Amino acid sequence: MITLGIESSCDECAAAVVEDGKKILSNVVATQIPFHKEFAGVVPEIASRKHTEWIYGVVEEALRQAGKTPRGIDGVAATARPGLLGSLLVGLTFAKSFAWAMRIPFLACNHMLAHLYAARLCEDNPPYPYLGLLVSGGHTIICRVDDFDTVEVMGTTIDDAAGEAFDKVAKHYDLGYPGGVYIDEAAKKGDEGAFDFPMPNLHKGEHQFDVSYSGLKTAVINQLEQFRRKGKAGEINVNDVAASFQKTAVEILLRALFRACQSSGIKTVVSGGGVAANSYLRRRLALQGGVDCVFPPPELCGDNGAMVAGIACQYFLRGESSPLSETACARVKEFRRRYP
Ligand code: KG4
Ligand code: ZN
Repeated sequence: MITLGIESSCDECAAAVVEDGKKILSNVVATQIPFHKEFAGVVPEIASRKHTEWIYGVVEEALRQAGKTPRGIDGVAATARPGLLGSLLVGLTFAKSFAWAMRIPFLACNHMLAHLYAARLCEDNPPYPYLGLLVSGGHTIICRVDDFDTVEVMGTTIDDAAGEAFDKVAKHYDLGYPGGVYIDEAAKKGDEGAFDFPMPNLHKGEHQFDVSYSGLKTAVINQLEQFRRKGKAGEINVNDVAASFQKTAVEILLRALFRACQSSGIKTVVSGGGVAANSYLRRRLALQGGVDCVFPPPELCGDNGAMVAGIACQYFLRGESSPLSETACARVKEFRRRYP
């Protein structure tokens, strides 16, 4: 089965063609980063305008690279939630129109389930159940995964998402936008033991394995303020800050994750989301004895259409699709979602 997946939830305008939920025939990602950079954050108005300008060309290119015409597509999907409403509506409406014109099934896709599916876009897939580690700019979720669409949240962030903490720290230290990848690079040249940033106290959140990033973020930003007050802002070694911050940020995740592994008895972890591209996180998990960790290749960690096309195929094979009246939602209250 050949599926077309469209992703427009944030600042990547993406489309991909995937065969049988596994084989990527094309994966086109047009990034809007240069347009948001000067604002050091995604400007929703610019994002939806760029998606509107680019979506047709991006889908056309994905079809071309896959060697397909619209008639060669068996089902089409788009991210419907969560994300920026105006941006989601562009991809979603395009996909619904495509489905209507071609008389093929349509699926409204959950972005976080799609990130979790990214690691399954290969030949060998880990058997269910496993633990999911979803780390992106908007979400931090530790969950038990029983099927591609059956997920139970075991922990989430009570404040900032992991990627958000990377981005905000990078912004304060003028490292670049979006911050994650710049911190990852700077940290390679720094000493992770240079600063002793705080780990959050374990607390009783809504879930047993919740995490928190606002304390760490504030401490790292305050560090710069302290240097500034002493008139020594120029003396701070930003690479050391990046390495120490990154070490603590990953430690926070791993502490909760390993507790979830112990409590559930599940020793396989599948990661996804932009922060899953982080080289330190990948290295730490690879070195961790007793836990098997599966990561998507770095190019499938961030937002892309292949994960949307891949997971959609699984729904279509089960005979499920979404009505063309389906609309976009900025937030997802209920993470577990079965589509009619
Ligand atoms: O999944 P994604 O592309 O978009 C959302 O769904 O949010 O994730 C974007 C996030 C950003 O916060 C970005 O800074 C972070 O992923 N990110 C990284 C790395 N590459 C991207 N964070 C840490 N290390 C990286 N190498
Ligand atoms: Zn994402």
